[in-house]
Amino acid sequence: VFDSVYPPSEDSELLAESLRVPADASVLDLGCGSGIQGIQCAKLGASSVTFADLNPLALRNARQNCKKNAVKCQKKFMQSDLFSNIREKFDVVIFNPPYVPSDAKKFLDTDGGKKGREVLDRFLVRVGDFLLPDGSFFFLQTSLNGENATQKLLKHLGFEFRIAGRKKLFFEELIVFKAWKKKHRVVKEKE
Ligand SMILES: C[S@@+](CC[C@H](N)C(=O)[O-])C[C@H]1O[C@@H](n2cnc3c(N)ncnc32)[C@H](O)[C@@H]1O
Repeated sequence: VFDSVYPPSEDSELLAESLRVPADASVLDLGCGSGIQGIQCAKLGASSVTFADLNPLALRNARQNCKKNAVKCQKKFMQSDLFSNIREKFDVVIFNPPYVPSDAKKFLDTDGGKKGREVLDRFLVRVGDFLLPDGSFFFLQTSLNGENATQKLLKHLGFEFRIAGRKKLFFEELIVFKAWKKKHRVVKEKE
């Protein structure tokens, strides 16, 4: 892992272990850092992975790690502020956002603004536009920035969800959500 790129840590590992992808899925690894999540998806059978990050060095690092891990599926590498340069829809979107509550936004990898939710909430509001029918998304947060707030926002945005992973650390709990668009039941009218 390059010096200026987030090294796979306990959160990265919990998220990677919680991922399930359908065979031949198209995947967006947003905030890819070293590329750990997208590489895991390739190993789980994804047919294409788009690696995206605001940090251009993360993209170089992810490209290098794909080579080292002999990732054979289709790959794209895109510099993007969240979805700003993304033009496709995906079966699976993954994001391990910067989520540490912080007054100043000094560290791109970790600082999530005052409540730790700035980047996460921006992500949640947009992600639905980048899902194929039956698509789903995985993301990680800490108990420090409000599990209930996330559940409330997901419901408000019309998503269903389940908790895909949890891990208690010394002063926080890491939580992985899997979410998808709520299906509206079609009620056939009687003829
Ligand atoms: C906690 S690290 C996660 C890295 C990697 N996905 C992992 O699980 O180890 C957060 C990543 O999000 C990226 N990032 C932060 N803000 C972003 C934004 N607005 N758009 C895209 N990427 C962003 C950072 O550069 C960093 O690579």
